[in-house]
Amino acid sequence: MKKVRVIRRERFNAAHRLFNPNWTDEKNELVFGKCSNKNWHGHNYVLFVTVEGHVDDDTGYVIDLKILSDLIKEKIVNKMDHRNLNLEVDFMKDCITTAENIAVKIYEQLEEGIKSTGNNLHSVKLYETENNYVEYYG
Ligand code: NI
Repeated sequence: MKKVRVIRRERFNAAHRLFNPNWTDEKNELVFGKCSNKNWHGHNYVLFVTVEGHVDDDTGYVIDLKILSDLIKEKIVNKMDHRNLNLEVDFMKDCITTAENIAVKIYEQLEEGIKSTGNNLHSVKLYETENNYVEYYG
């Protein structure tokens, strides 16, 4: 059977602030600069979720993209879109809301649901800006 990777793109807009609570305001300002603005700032995040699996003989699919899209909406987009990532997203509590950490947390939120479709979550790619993005492979 042939292994193929299927990629779904989703988008969400969210506010955040880079802030390490173990540091003084001055140190946060020094390390994170304007990303640490206490009045928050926002990004238009673009998320790519890559699922790897075998092509089903009956459907010709690895995974029905409607199922993948619904899963990402339920677990990620509905919880993060138009939210404050530092204050309102349960699974981002107690971590600095860098793109790196967000990608890892998103991966962890999706892993089990994708496994239950008989496929593997290959990677999560998250664009914070057009020029800056991160990838996590689990
Ligand atoms: Ni930012």
